[in-house]
Amino acid sequence: MKIAIASDHGGFEMKEAIKRHYENCNMLDLGTYTPDSVDYPDYAKKMVRALSEKKADWGILICGTGVGISIAANRYKGIRAALVYNSEVARLAKQHNNANVLVFGGRTMAVDDVINCIDTFLQSEYEGGRHQCRLDKIENTEL
Ligand code: RB5
Repeated sequence: MKIAIASDHGGFEMKEAIKRHYENCNMLDLGTYTPDSVDYPDYAKKMVRALSEKKADWGILICGTGVGISIAANRYKGIRAALVYNSEVARLAKQHNNANVLVFGGRTMAVDDVINCIDTFLQSEYEGGRHQCRLDKIENTEL
């Protein structure tokens, strides 16, 4: 399973810490590659492009709070980006929402908590069933 990861400057240190922890997974790092200021929508777009080109199975996005980059990612069809803040929410984001992007706040969360969320997400399975028609409704955005 290939995991892509991207952040703006607000998530840069967290991205590097996650990559170090999962160094055996060889995550696909889409940037940013320095702590210099960048715009988080550009990194949400890089993630969406990588997922749509099947360069990774799912992704991790990080900005300062996680809010901006999740708003940006969720503008794209087929993206279910979940801003999670504990392992219970990470589990449900997989089981109920079949999230394909996990989002974290690099300035608002501790590395250990983020690692717990990722581990829990990796161990969880989408339940389908009643949740699928809800996901189908999300894809149908016509008013
Ligand atoms: C960048 O300073 C900051 O605004 C960004 O990382 C993020 O928190 C936006 O939601």
